[in-house]
Amino acid sequence: MDVKRTRIADLLKRTDYGQEVLVKGWVRTKRGSKTVSFIALNDGSTIRNVQIVADLDKFSDELMKQITTGACLSVKGTMVESIGSGQAVEVQATDIEVLGLCGDDYPMQKKGQSFEYMRQHAHMRLRTNTFGAVMRIRHNMAMAIHTYFHEHGFYYFHTPLITASDCEGAGNMFQVTTKNLYDLKKDDQGKIIYDDDFFGQQTSLTVSGQLEGELGATALGAIYTFGPTFRAENSNTPRHLAEFWMIEPEVAFLDQEELMDLEEDFIKYCVRWALDNCKDDLDFLNQMIDKTLLERLESVLKENFVRLTYTEGINILQEAIRNGHKFEFPCNWGDDLASEHERYLVEEYFRKPVIMTDYPTAIKSFYMKQNEATAGGGSIGYKGVEAPASTMQGTDVLFPQIGEIIGGSVREADYDRLMAEINRRQMDMTHLWWYLDTRRWGSCPHAGFGLGFERLILFITGMQNIRDVIPFPRTPRSAEF
Ligand code: 4AD
Ligand code: MG
Repeated sequence: MDVKRTRIADLLKRTDYGQEVLVKGWVRTKRGSKTVSFIALNDGSTIRNVQIVADLDKFSDELMKQITTGACLSVKGTMVESIGSGQAVEVQATDIEVLGLCGDDYPMQKKGQSFEYMRQHAHMRLRTNTFGAVMRIRHNMAMAIHTYFHEHGFYYFHTPLITASDCEGAGNMFQVTTKNLYDLKKDDQGKIIYDDDFFGQQTSLTVSGQLEGELGATALGAIYTFGPTFRAENSNTPRHLAEFWMIEPEVAFLDQEELMDLEEDFIKYCVRWALDNCKDDLDFLNQMIDKTLLERLESVLKENFVRLTYTEGINILQEAIRNGHKFEFPCNWGDDLASEHERYLVEEYFRKPVIMTDYPTAIKSFYMKQNEATAGGGSIGYKGVEAPASTMQGTDVLFPQIGEIIGGSVREADYDRLMAEINRRQMDMTHLWWYLDTRRWGSCPHAGFGLGFERLILFITGMQNIRDVIPFPRTPRSAEF
């Protein structure tokens, strides 16, 4: 009877030496002597390779020449206890078939290529140890997230990718159209008429599923989304993608304190999951990418996140400036914090994750609940308004190495207050009539947040650039593969 293929991850756990096995995978390295070749084979199921031992008197020179780095092999042989390979098991080959040759122009042949080089060969970089480890961890984090929410009574809720509304109101959206861009119908004022477009109105790719998520939460109690989101911001940084995945839980009857508890508990669950389920890959990354990675992951589990208001944060930053610390960007009350400010607080001042709350209303989105004492007050940032500034119940999580990993808030549930803020911002709500209806019929207090999936993966893997934790990154001027 033919033996079935064994995944290398499974093979390396076995101890029933003497059995015949079949393994398939790609050659990582080949070395040896005049009489024997040692081939390190990897099939992607684990960072570990299995050592194939090929006695040269059993295999032709011609075949052995075809076994080069990157070639794909099918190997039948006997599973034996290993002494020298660093694993408990190796395979004494009886049959080797080359499934795919690999010439010396293979771009991943040399070790130690730069990450920039690998990005240019993103179609092949997945076969390297580093990217294999990152992708397996990425998968594990997706499983952790679904498991966490399922166990905590949240429903996985699918929000549309194509939308007529701009959740964050920042205007950074990719338009979706089937119109002939060379022959646009325009009105007297020169504005494009969309009534003959596919959806009969202007549509874009979503920047966030939150607004529809709120419809789910105010019906099902607790939901979460997990899907791609798109931002046409021209941000060429190691923390921004034009297409990234976001996880957005939204919960009815949750207040600001409970929201922070959820954020902290959820992130810690993900970190714990990685430590419990991705040991080999994390050990590899700790050794090759960042020697403080495991220590940092463990320390996040031990610490209580600092809970700090924006105003307290600004005071700390200004104190630092008075003591001689230099920042590139200003940080006066009312300014949006830059990542250098966030990282100063997290990495230098507190040395642990920070949940920052109660930001000025003007620098955040329209749907956030304003604090009682300040609600309806003026806001620095709105032209012509000079009343005392308003703050809102936001709860962003700031992480070491990353900066903002979560953006969240309590939502404004009161129709009149929400409308007042919308009017102050002079927002066009034509396409958001349905959102306002949640505040008209059975409105309820609710809150939620968005976690950037790739920023979580950055933290868990210790990788430095967000382009290296998603298989095929989309960034300004780059949509290859
Ligand atoms: O802070 P943001 O813009 O919040 C929202 O979109 C809310 N609607 C979420 C909610 O409350 N349901 O984005 C949330 C998170 C950020 O904290 C960051 O981790 C990530 O999404 N993020 C990005 N990740 C990669 N590339 C980008 N361009 C990102 N923009 C935001
Ligand atoms: Mg944000």
